[in-house]
Amino acid sequence: MPGFSFPPDFTIPTPRLQISPFNPNNPAHCAFLVQLWNTDGFISSCGKTGITTPEKAHSFLKGRVSEYYAYHGYGTFLVSRQTEDGVKPIGTVSLTRGIPPGPHYLAPDIGFAMLPEECRKGHATEAAKALLEYAGKNLGVEAVFGFCSPANRWSRGALENIGMEFRGVKPLKVFGGEDSAVYVLPGMSGDLSVYNLD
Ligand SMILES: CC(C)(COP(=O)(O)OP(=O)(O)OC[C@H]1O[C@@H](n2cnc3c(N)ncnc32)[C@H](O)[C@@H]1OP(=O)(O)O)[C@@H](O)C(=O)NCCC(=O)NCCS
Repeated sequence: MPGFSFPPDFTIPTPRLQISPFNPNNPAHCAFLVQLWNTDGFISSCGKTGITTPEKAHSFLKGRVSEYYAYHGYGTFLVSRQTEDGVKPIGTVSLTRGIPPGPHYLAPDIGFAMLPEECRKGHATEAAKALLEYAGKNLGVEAVFGFCSPANRWSRGALENIGMEFRGVKPLKVFGGEDSAVYVLPGMSGDLSVYNLD
């Protein structure tokens, strides 16, 4: 769906959360991405992203993240928690997939990250379920992977909470051949080469 754009004020609501596209021109969104992606938990699981200043976050959101939205209709979203005083950013949830001709599979993968103080409260599970439901109903996305380091029990726990099925540890070309735990949505083919993953 190249050329896609979200309606103004688009959100996916859940009982406790709100999932919304990042706005590169919102300084609070840029500052939050820097905060989240530089927590010890994020760096030890996902590595350093180089998004270390609000200016770098602005360029990343304006470039790569907006490009994903326009190309696929999905990408990396901000997760906020509803509080008595409004909404508070607590994490990200994403559906991402390479854009050809780069390394890519024929199904996106779901990912998430939460601030340390917001973990272990079911937030990643709630956000990911809602994004999968939205993408299934509105974008026809039925096949989705979940990838994480085999030792990342937090991410594996959330992927299992969503109902994803473990299909083994495999070296993945999208991670430069590094081993990853591979999860899939129920109902996906047993032969993962149909999604270009072997
Ligand atoms: C992965 C991450 C997003 C999970 O967020 P979360 O909001 O805590 O996830 P949930 O509460 O929905 O589910 C986490 C599940 O992980 C498992 N888990 C979490 N902490 C655990 C622990 N200390 N010991 C064992 N299992 C644990 C449990 O199965 C838990 O579900 P439960 O509470 O229902 O038992 C969060 O830990 C994080 O941001 N980590 C750093 C970034 C990261 O690893 N991202 C994923 C990269 S692939």
